[in-house]
Formats: sequence, structure tokens, C-alpha cells
Amino acid sequence: MMRWRVTVQESDAAAVYALVTETGFFSKSEQQIAIELVEETLSMGKESGYEFVFVDMPGKPGSLLGYTCYGPIPDTVSSFDLYWIAVSPRQQRTGLGSALLIETERLALQQKASRMFVDTSGREQYTPTRNFYERSGYQQEARLIDFYAPGDDKVIYAKTL
Ligand SMILES: CC(C)(COP(=O)(O)OP(=O)(O)OC[C@H]1O[C@@H](n2cnc3c(N)ncnc32)[C@H](O)[C@@H]1OP(=O)(O)O)[C@@H](O)C(=O)NCCC(=O)NCCS
Repeated sequence: MMRWRVTVQESDAAAVYALVTETGFFSKSEQQIAIELVEETLSMGKESGYEFVFVDMPGKPGSLLGYTCYGPIPDTVSSFDLYWIAVSPRQQRTGLGSALLIETERLALQQKASRMFVDTSGREQYTPTRNFYERSGYQQEARLIDFYAPGDDKVIYAKTL
């Protein structure tokens, strides 16, 4: 049985690092940021502004099949940001990413979110990721040419919840 939870635990810093590294989609500095969001939440609690949905790996405590990190965007009335979503490569294309996103949207709605925003890369490697967002009801709202690096655009998606 997969265990779903929203409470952050000590082992999540290492587990999130292992997961985001395993996907091969994130740079060293992005991997570091992913851990920092977990650590900030461990030390500050809800005050951090980051919230999570974790899916634990059955029979392997301290390992994750997938997770999301999201939260209200400061200084907006009801806009939320999906900061992070990742599913273990062995578990991809099984519907877990969609299930995680739906649960995240449900929890955001409970907190009166009206719109969910997500940034991604325009690079070829992220074509499946963009397909995933489009398939999940997200619309491309903006494309910032060469934002991350020359040849690496930022693509902003949004969905009305
Ligand atoms: C993006 C991600 C979270 C999707 O999770 P997932 O569990 O594989 O997604 P699902 O199985 O729920 O897929 C839902 C739909 O998205 C689309 N999709 C997902 N992966 C895809 C792929 N590799 N190629 C094409 N379409 C894909 C498909 O339409 C899929 O539906 P289908 O399998 O019925 O065709 C996962 O692939 C991932 O962790 N990728 C690497 C990290 C990443 O890109 N994170 C986002 C950074 S901005």
C-alpha cells in the first residue's frame, strides 16, 4: 500500500534529494533548493509557506515514490505556485504524477486557492513534462525567451481551480 502524507519528516530532506537526483531533470543548484524547502519547513512549520504531498515507497521507509511542493504566492490574493513535482522514474507513466497533482490542487482549493501556477523549461528534455501539464488542464500563459540560459526558455503554465 502506498502511504500518502502531508506532514514533513526528518528523512524527507535525504529522500527528496535522492528522488530529484534520480529523475535526472534537475541541476545541482535545483537539487539543493528542493532540499532547502524541506529543511525550512522542518524548522519553521507552516510559516515557511511551503506545503507538501508525499507518497512513500512501500516497504522502504525513508524513500519516496513521488512528491509535490506547493504554496500560496506571497502578496497575491489566492494564487498558488506548484514549486515542485517529481515521480520516481520507475513509477512514471503509471498515473502517480496525475494523482499527486489532483491531490495538491484539492488541498490548495481547501485553502481558497483560485489559480495554480507552475514554471517549467522550454527545453526538449521537458516536452513530456509540458505534455503532462497540458494533459492535466494547464494552459501555457507565457514563454520567457532565454530566461534560464540562452536556448532555455521559461514556460509558465496556469490552471483555474
Ligand atoms: C512530470 C512527472 C511528474 C509526471 O508524472 P507521471 O507519474 O509520469 O505522470 P502520469 O503517469 O500521471 O502521466 C499523465 C499524463 O502526462 C503525460 N506524460 C507523462 N509523462 C510523459 C512522457 N514521458 N511522455 C509523454 N507524455 C507524458 C501523458 O499524457 C500521461 O498520460 P498517459 O500515460 O495516459 O498517456 C514525471 O514525469 C517526472 O517526475 N518528471 C521528471 C521531473 C519533472 O519534469 N518535474 C517537473 C519539473 S517542472
